[in-house]
Amino acid sequence: MPDATAWIIGAGRVGTAIAHVMKNHGITVLNIISTKYSRAQALAAKTGAKAYANIPEHEPWPDWLALTVRDDVIADVVNLLDARIKTQNQHTACFHCSGVHGSSLLSPLAEHGWTVFSFHPIQTFYSVEIRPEVVENIYVGIEGTEDGLQAAQRLARLFGWKPMVIPQDQKPLYHAACVFASNFITASFGAALDILATLGVPENTAREALLPLSQTSINALAHLPPHEAITGPLIRGDVDTVAKHIQVLSTNRVYQEMYREMCRTILEILQRHNLSPDWKDKMRSALDSD
Ligand SMILES: NC(=O)c1ccc[n+]([C@@H]2O[C@H](COP(=O)([O-])OP(=O)(O)OC[C@H]3O[C@@H](n4cnc5c(N)ncnc54)[C@H](OP(=O)(O)O)[C@@H]3O)[C@@H](O)[C@H]2O)c1
Repeated sequence: MPDATAWIIGAGRVGTAIAHVMKNHGITVLNIISTKYSRAQALAAKTGAKAYANIPEHEPWPDWLALTVRDDVIADVVNLLDARIKTQNQHTACFHCSGVHGSSLLSPLAEHGWTVFSFHPIQTFYSVEIRPEVVENIYVGIEGTEDGLQAAQRLARLFGWKPMVIPQDQKPLYHAACVFASNFITASFGAALDILATLGVPENTAREALLPLSQTSINALAHLPPHEAITGPLIRGDVDTVAKHIQVLSTNRVYQEMYREMCRTILEILQRHNLSPDWKDKMRSALDSD
């Protein structure tokens, strides 16, 4: 894609990552548009682009237009673009990065001849600081019109990302899986920090103590399926230990419920792999106890 150009609308976490990846792979990012001009300016300064708080009126459309605003405002930005487009244009490919929405949100643009697709990097971007390692060798969930899918595949290849085609009507389910793999791990770690805080363990110490546990558990998943990677009282059949955990967690009903549901999930995973331990029923009763 020599000499390809791009605009980024939304200078947040994903906008920053996409702008850097584009720049590093030879796409010239011309304009960064974001409601907070200072945000647009900060990213524009790092990528050599121009900054705008609104969609510029008199500039030619780019080859790639990335909508990296949050999910709820994608449709509003599409309406603004729709109102701005004066002539049919076959060269602009526009994508959003939502995991849950399909490319149909971009249909008004397709009516002007634009190629449209959704392009959801399967990665967590927790800040606007760019960390090159988080945008290397990742997967990207893609879907779109026939042309859109081809464009998404081209862009993924350029970035060195692996495309995973998701049917449009399955995107919410696909995205729920991503939430399990990311947000719930963070939430689970947060619960562990909170619980140690009630014992007076300072947050930094708790983090240092627990991180090796979490990291090793995650690393094991690189080469083992979950039912083989998991350790702990539940998998050992230590019913009394689990019953004690349920009991002491009664001081925090949210964490108690979370503990129960996680244990039930583990039992479910074991069952699905035809591992039906003889302590299973006793464990279920312990989980149901108060
Ligand atoms: N973060 C992740 O880990 C992640 C991962 C994969 C995909 N995604 C997807 O990527 C998209 C962006 O998420 P994000 O986390 O990067 O969000 P974000 O950090 O909140 O960034 C969104 C940016 O868009 C700007 N904005 C809001 N309304 C706008 C408008 N009408 N015109 C121009 N700019 C506008 C916001 O400006 P203000 O600063 O003024 O609010 C903000 O800078 C979402 O679709 C999300 O689902 C996110």
